Amino acid sequence: MLSRTQQVDLSLQHLKNHILSVYTPEQRKSITQSEDWKTFGARLQQHFPKLMHELDNVYGSNEAVLPMLEQLLANAWHSYAKRSRNLKTIDAAREADPDWILSHKQVGGVCYVDLFAGDLQGLKAKIPYFQELGLTYLHLMPLFQCPEGKSDGGYAVSSYRDVNPALGTIDDLREVIEALHEAGISAVVDFIFNHTSNEHQWAVECAAGNPLYDNFYYIFPDRWMPDQYDRTLREIFPDQHPGGFSQLEDGRWVWTTFNSFQWDLNYSNPWVFNAMAGEMMFLANLGVDILRMDAVAFIWKQMGTSCENLPQAHALIRAFNAVMRIAAPAVFFKSEAIVHPDEVVQYIGQDECQIGYNPLQMALLWNTLATREVNLLEQALTYRHNLPEHTAWVNYVRSHDDIGWTFADEDAAYFGINGYDHRQFLNRFFVNHFDGSFARGVPFQFNPATGDCRVSGTAAALAGLAQNDPHAVDRIKLVYSIALSTGGLPLIYLGDEVGTLNDESWHLDANKADDSRWAHRPRYNDALYSQRHDDSTAAGQIYQALRHMIRIRQSNKRFDGGRLLTFHTHNKHIIGYIRNQALLAFGNFSEFAQTISRHTLQAMPAQAKDLISGQTVRLDQDLVLKPYQVMWLEIA
Ligand code: GLC
Ligand code: GLC
Ligand code: GLC
Repeated sequence: MLSRTQQVDLSLQHLKNHILSVYTPEQRKSITQSEDWKTFGARLQQHFPKLMHELDNVYGSNEAVLPMLEQLLANAWHSYAKRSRNLKTIDAAREADPDWILSHKQVGGVCYVDLFAGDLQGLKAKIPYFQELGLTYLHLMPLFQCPEGKSDGGYAVSSYRDVNPALGTIDDLREVIEALHEAGISAVVDFIFNHTSNEHQWAVECAAGNPLYDNFYYIFPDRWMPDQYDRTLREIFPDQHPGGFSQLEDGRWVWTTFNSFQWDLNYSNPWVFNAMAGEMMFLANLGVDILRMDAVAFIWKQMGTSCENLPQAHALIRAFNAVMRIAAPAVFFKSEAIVHPDEVVQYIGQDECQIGYNPLQMALLWNTLATREVNLLEQALTYRHNLPEHTAWVNYVRSHDDIGWTFADEDAAYFGINGYDHRQFLNRFFVNHFDGSFARGVPFQFNPATGDCRVSGTAAALAGLAQNDPHAVDRIKLVYSIALSTGGLPLIYLGDEVGTLNDESWHLDANKADDSRWAHRPRYNDALYSQRHDDSTAAGQIYQALRHMIRIRQSNKRFDGGRLLTFHTHNKHIIGYIRNQALLAFGNFSEFAQTISRHTLQAMPAQAKDLISGQTVRLDQDLVLKPYQVMWLEIA
């Protein structure tokens, strides 16, 4: 009986021989002597054991695994060999500096190519703007081929090798990525790997019974299996279809967690892993720096469970990560897990997703604006913020998705808050069904069966700018100040920086009318962007405040890294935290001036410079913050 290490060595040797077997002896000789082969070999040596371990976790003794690995690693080699010189240089640099993404210099932005700039060439023309704002990271929302009409904003991909023709070509994309790199901006695209569109070739072939695509998706002849699964599934888009399945024209049923045209891939088939890994390597060689791992929670199904956050889902992501470490180590993963906070953190790790969305902080920023009390936010920053080394949060205020109130009921109960009731309150507050609310959001996916609901709306609309609430601008500055300073990578939902309001016409488009998220996906607003240097306008005030905070962050090491210590202000309206023992941040969530007692500040120096106002403030006296004021104090 061979030991585990011997087995791994043997497989590794076998797989290397397999890669070389397609070459002539001559070619083999020159390849094995090349720098590329040596580098590739060293990476294989280091990461193959992990890959094999994870695949073992998922597939056990499935006999397809070895032939699958033969194809996968041959593909990894060809993919690495074809990588451009530039990308190989970035590979090596990021291997040597896994913390590049945690730098205080990093500031992210996200936009839809069509809505922001028309098409890819238009986007390229906006690069000087991204530089003006200070972006070092740009997430382009889904831009691959997708069904006409409804496509869940491109989250139903028909081909990962072709750009949506309305936006340009794959060469345009390559060109945009190169131009972004030249401007010092990393390129981020989605890796939508839980599902493809129903028009993807794999889906078409699978439905037609092509044996090569057998079991690429979950297709059932009748309702028997779907009924068993549905008993324990959560409905993600209850408006679109009840349960997790959709019926095909021929009467069969297919697994569709999201919309009927988004078919879930069947990862219990190892060839599906191989196929998606191939698409991932293709994206990597376009020059993509970060893959946004879409809908990570859903990729593994098991009868009798919610089919979310299963251990195999994690193992598969770590296996994809190992493939990237071997074939394109420059590429990092960002997890999109909008689930219970205990589960969200499980996706973040150097071997899994190096960075991940922080939906808890996002939701609690809005919660805190509504309640004016920092209790839940402070608790989250204290107990749920610090992550393992070399990993970080992506801190955001708004995204293209709805806001779900994903705080833990247990956390709320600590303060005597009932989670269910509080979510009802927040939903009413943010859609303006609560007296005195400043928010003008729109309900999303109200589920009468559970009473559950989420909220759509742009940051400006939710903060009160729609009706010119006098505090709206300051609320936007405050929540963005938190995203920019708590540690990790801040992400700006482009449009927010000039106070873009909801698109009031979203429901007039038949392809959007059933999805209120389109309310907060407006087109680039020329008028607002042209006001951005004029501080007599709200757009100008927001823009300049954000620009100012970004500059401070990027020129100050105190913002580096991902961790913090909370500082309890003994004022329930003021959040406080310390970064790198050198920066003390305060934010007042109330529309009234608030005081921090000098006793609370006792351990602090007698005075400190506030980086936001540029003024020196005294900490040996009571400290007063104006309504919604932010202070970033240099304490060392
Ligand atoms: C993610 C996306 C969301 C999409 C879903 C299905 O949650 O952010 O917009 O609807 O995945 O791909
Ligand atoms: C290989 C496998 C086949 C699989 C196909 C798609 O050709 O032999 O079973 O379906 O790859 O990746
Ligand atoms: C996500 C989440 C859900 C989110 C949706 C997109 O993956 O699980 O809460 O709102 O898909 O809207």
